[in-house]
Parts: sequence; structure tokens; C-alpha cells
Amino acid sequence: SKPFLGFWVQLDCSSSRCRSVAAESGRAALTTLSGFVDGLELDHSGCECLGFTNMTGRFIVLEGIDGCGKSTQIQHLAQWLPSSGLMPSTARLICTREPGGSPLGQSIRELLLHAEADQTPSVTSELLLYAADRAQHVDTVIRPALQRGDWVLSDRFAGSTLAYQGYGRGLDRQLITRLESIATAGLEPDLTMWLMVPVEVSLQRRCGVKQDRIEAEGCAFLQRVADGFASLAEQRSWCRLDAQQSVAQLSGVLEQTILESLR
Ligand code: TMP
Repeated sequence: SKPFLGFWVQLDCSSSRCRSVAAESGRAALTTLSGFVDGLELDHSGCECLGFTNMTGRFIVLEGIDGCGKSTQIQHLAQWLPSSGLMPSTARLICTREPGGSPLGQSIRELLLHAEADQTPSVTSELLLYAADRAQHVDTVIRPALQRGDWVLSDRFAGSTLAYQGYGRGLDRQLITRLESIATAGLEPDLTMWLMVPVEVSLQRRCGVKQDRIEAEGCAFLQRVADGFASLAEQRSWCRLDAQQSVAQLSGVLEQTILESLR
């Protein structure tokens, strides 16, 4: 008999995030389960899908090329957000990053960025390792936090894989988007802010600093990644912020953007 997959979701929440999450989860389930008989795996994806409706926390992501200032700004926002008046008094702020936002992810980060010469991942392994890191991060850190009502601030998320492995390495972007659906099970940030710097500024800022394997890819690779981020910002309606201004000015712009987007 022909495989059949039924999918039914009832949402008790009218926010656009819930709707898009449900749509994405449906898509992710279909992607993951195509070929399976009705009911076989629905528990897994069906439950996750319904679980998203209980998420009261907020998820903020900073994206950008190496040297754009994300880490410095994350440190600032870690201080500012809890006193911003935006977060409920019971909510905690979880500051995290990709790759390496979970204990397993830290091991994956080492493999990705600091592997011994004879263990250097191929481009396909690299893509799958970033996806594995993300799946573990979403399943064990981000989604549980959002379900508890906590806020999550992440240094990079799925956009980085499209930018670096898709636009930078030239891997199939449709395949990467499907992997993203599987790794995130449809979870999307409430707000993504892209810190824009020209490649020359990124290189200048990192001059003399020891580079990891991806940073060492050089100027042409980084330019493709930067162009990729520009396309993604357009496609995914990210907030674009000029990251060439002073640290203090940029912090102010980030605060303002968060207030306007999430109040
Ligand atoms: P970080 O230095 O910002 O922590 O990021 C580590 C490196 O990993 C950085 O050069 C960007 C790269 N990266 C990818 O190539 N693909 C990804 O999906 C992610 C999250 C990071």
C-alpha cells in the first residue's frame, strides 16, 4: 500500500512566529518522514511541533563575518538585556553560540575549527558537523530554554551555514535549507541582527590574531560569505546594522533595534 502521512496542528496562539514555526515544522516533518507510513514517526515531529506553541521565551541571534564584533556586542547585551525591562522578572538570559553551544557541541567545535591536519573535515563532513552541532544545540539548550520562558541570545545560528557552507564553499543551498529544517525542527529566531563590515575591515581587525581553520580560508572566501549574508538578510528580513561605527554606538543601535522589535 502507498505510504500516507497525515499532519494536524492546532495552535492556541496567534503570533506569526507560532504560525511560521508550525508551517516549517510541517515541512520539516514531511522532509524527514517522506516514505514512512502514517504514524510511524509522527510522535517525534508531531510532539515537537506542538511543543513550540508553549514557547514563551524569545530567541535573538547575531550574525556576521568573522571580526564584525558579534562577541563584544553579545557581552554587552548579556549585561543590558536583563535590565532592559523587556524580559519578564522570572526569565533568565541564556547566552550561547554556534558552533559549541552544548557540551557535545564544544567537542564538535574543536573538530571543526582546530582539527589535527590528518583529521581535517571534508566540505561535506564540515556541513554535517555544523548541522549536528545545531541539532544538539536546539534540542538540549535553545528549545528547553524557550519552553521555560527564558530568553536566548546566540552568537550565530542557521544563517551562518548558508553563508559559509552555501555561499562560501558553494554547497547546494537547497540541501542546506533542508538540513536546517531537520536540525532546527522549524525553530526560527524572533530577531536576527546582521552586523555588516566590509571584508577589508574584518581582515584588518583580525590582523596578527591566530586564525581558526575557517578564518584562514582567505579574502575571496570571506567575500563570498559576506555577499551571502547580504542576500540572506534580504531574503529573511534580518535587521542590518552598520558594524563599522564605534563599539558604544553599535551597542546603542542594537539596544534600540531589540526594543523596537521585541517590546
Ligand atoms: P565564531 O568564531 O564566530 O565562533 O565561529 C566559528 C567559525 O565557524 C566562523 O569562522 C564561522 C564558522 N561557521 C561556519 O562556517 N558555519 C556555521 O554554520 C557556523 C555556525 C559557523
